[in-house]
Amino acid sequence: PQTFRPAAMLVERSADFGRSWKVYRYFAYDCAAAFPHVPRGPPRRIDDVVCESRYSDIEPSTEGEVIYRVLDPAIPIGDPYSPAIQNLLRVTNLRVNLTKLHTLGDNLLDTRREIQEKYYYALYELVLRGNCFCYGHASECAPLSGAPATADGMVHGRCVCKHHTQGLNCERCQDFYHDLPWRPAEGYRCDCNEHSRRCHFDMAVFLAT
Ligand SMILES: *[C@@H]1O[C@H](CO)[C@@H](O)[C@H](O)[C@H]1NC(C)=O
Repeated sequence: PQTFRPAAMLVERSADFGRSWKVYRYFAYDCAAAFPHVPRGPPRRIDDVVCESRYSDIEPSTEGEVIYRVLDPAIPIGDPYSPAIQNLLRVTNLRVNLTKLHTLGDNLLDTRREIQEKYYYALYELVLRGNCFCYGHASECAPLSGAPATADGMVHGRCVCKHHTQGLNCERCQDFYHDLPWRPAEGYRCDCNEHSRRCHFDMAVFLAT
């Protein structure tokens, strides 16, 4: 921002191209006043939705950064392939709701609307970094059906699966390549035993052998 960072704002995400939104994180100078229903941070669990004050000060008065990470490096995530983590990482759109300006007190002396209107925000750079999520079974991602084809720099959501896997996230073995239960990569690939070129997975047989 070219002025102070907002006194209150929130970061929201959509996983369905903007049809519905969920808040990731609230930021406010005074969390209790701005977002009374939201617990104070820092978050304890990776998917806690909390309010934090660290990016809402009047200082610095220009070029204040706000850095938000979906997976907070301070919190152990356990199984990165769990549905809860995957769900948290699924993002098609992100938006920032600048909710309240810092007004330096002159709005208290004079409550006319023009006084408030002389304050404004200037957001001059928004940097997003992301990955598509393929359990290590792909090295590139292609657009999802329904995704805007022209979105510049978009991280696409359909993995181009290798190792005989399939699914948007390569979360299943292809038919007839199912010798073992599916797993994330790390040396693992969906395969057949060496006696056949086609096979399917049978848990009972697998456990028995
Ligand atoms: C932005 O956030 C405020 C405070 O939660 C809310 O009242 C307002 O409706 C939000 N605006 C949009 C466009 O979602």
